[in-house]
Amino acid sequence: MDILKGKSYVVTGGARGIGLACCQAIIAAGGQVAVLDILSEPDSSAAALQEASKYHYFSCDIAQQQSLEPAFHNAVIALGGQLDGCVLAAGIGLDKPFVDISWAEFDRLMRVNQSGIFFVAQLATRAMLLQDVDKHGIRGSIVSIASRSASGTCPGHLLSAYGGSKGFVKSFTLQLGHELAGKGIRVNCISPGYIETELNLSLARIRPEVQYFFTEAPPLKRIGQTSDVAGGLIYLLSDAASYVTAIDLPIDGGMTAGTGLTK
Ligand SMILES: NC(=O)c1ccc[n+]([C@@H]2O[C@H](COP(=O)([O-])OP(=O)(O)OC[C@H]3O[C@@H](n4cnc5c(N)ncnc54)[C@H](O)[C@@H]3O)[C@@H](O)[C@H]2O)c1
Repeated sequence: MDILKGKSYVVTGGARGIGLACCQAIIAAGGQVAVLDILSEPDSSAAALQEASKYHYFSCDIAQQQSLEPAFHNAVIALGGQLDGCVLAAGIGLDKPFVDISWAEFDRLMRVNQSGIFFVAQLATRAMLLQDVDKHGIRGSIVSIASRSASGTCPGHLLSAYGGSKGFVKSFTLQLGHELAGKGIRVNCISPGYIETELNLSLARIRPEVQYFFTEAPPLKRIGQTSDVAGGLIYLLSDAASYVTAIDLPIDGGMTAGTGLTK
C-alpha cells in the first residue's frame, strides 16, 4: 500500500532500533528518508535501502548546533528539497536511582532528548513553512517518539530523569501542535512502552531481572516490537490522520490502563 508515495522525511535516530523500523515502514509505504544519527554507519539491514537510494544517511549529533544544522541542510537537499515530515526518534536512556544521577549524565540526557527534539523540530518547521499546503491544508507532519514514562511508571525501571525528559516531549508536542495547527503543520508524538531494542536489551544484560517486566507488565503479555511503533507512525504521517494533531499515541500493550502484573 503506497500511502506515503513520493513523500520525503527526515528521521533522527534512524540508524537502528525504532528509528530504523520507522524508516523501513516509510520506504515500504512508498516514501524516502534522510537519516540523522550519531553513529558513523547505520545497521547493516539498511544497506539495501541505501542502494535503492531511498535511505540517505548523515552522521551528526543532534544535540550540537554546529553538527546538526549542516547535516539537516544536506538531508533536505538529498530529499530533493521537499520535506513532508520529520520523525524525531533519536534519544538516549538513563535508568538509575535518583540520588546517584550526576550533573553530567543529566545534562547529556536533556541535551539529546529535549534540545535535540526541540531544535530539529524547529529546523523542520522552518523548511515546511516554505512549502505549499496539500488538499487537506497541511504543509507537513512532525512525529516525536516520547515514552510511556512521560505519563506513568514503568515497572522494573528507575526513570526520574528519563521520564522527565520524555514528559518534555509530550508537553512540547501539545504546545507546538496547537501553535502550528493554523500554519498547516501537524505535530504528534508516540509513547511506546517496552520495545525490544538495544536501549532495553543493553539494560537487560546488566539487570536480567527486568526481562520479567518486559513480558509481564504489559496487559498484552509480550514485549513490543519496533514494527508496532512503526505502524502507529505510518498512520500519523498519512492522510488518514490529516485531522489529527497535538496528540500522544500510546503503543504500550495496554499499560496506559494499568499493568498486567498480578504481584
Ligand atoms: N526501546 C524502548 O522500549 C523505548 C520505549 C519508549 C521510548 N523509546 C524512545 O524511542 C527512541 C528510539 O529508541 P530505541 O529504543 O530505538 O533505541 P536505540 O538506542 O536502538 O536507538 C536510538 C538511536 O538514536 C541515536 N542517537 C542517540 N543519541 C543521538 C544524538 N545525540 N544524535 C543523533 N542520534 C542519536 C542512536 O545512535 C540510535 O541509532 C528513543 O527516543 C527512546 O527514548 C524507546
